[in-house]
Amino acid sequence: MASKKYTWHKVAGAATDLQWTAGAIAEVSADGTKICLAKFQDQWFGFAHTCPHAGAPMTDGYVAGPCQVVCPVHQLKFNLKNGGRDVNGEGYTLKTYPVEVRADGVYVGLEEAGGKGFFKKWF
Ligand code: FES
Repeated sequence: MASKKYTWHKVAGAATDLQWTAGAIAEVSADGTKICLAKFQDQWFGFAHTCPHAGAPMTDGYVAGPCQVVCPVHQLKFNLKNGGRDVNGEGYTLKTYPVEVRADGVYVGLEEAGGKGFFKKWF
């Protein structure tokens, strides 16, 4: 299976530059796409700004337990470590993005082929 290719976008100069919500989520923008960030101990995760169930803003949600984020509207829980699948078994998947913290800042990876870049180019 071919590995995914990413274009990396710097979203903050340092982790301390990010504004965290009361629910321990930070909103950033990568190439015009709103993305949420969450941190669990030393692991970072990026995930979609809107919930796949009914479109609630995930920035109003909160981090709950290891690698889980909870939607603010119907409280579905998504496990960010297994690709954003909901832990309630409803079959929804919250899109996730890789995050890297480098010496010069925080970066989010957007998929190159077949992702938003493809649609931006052709539509
Ligand atoms: S809108 Fe997120 S669980 Fe319903």
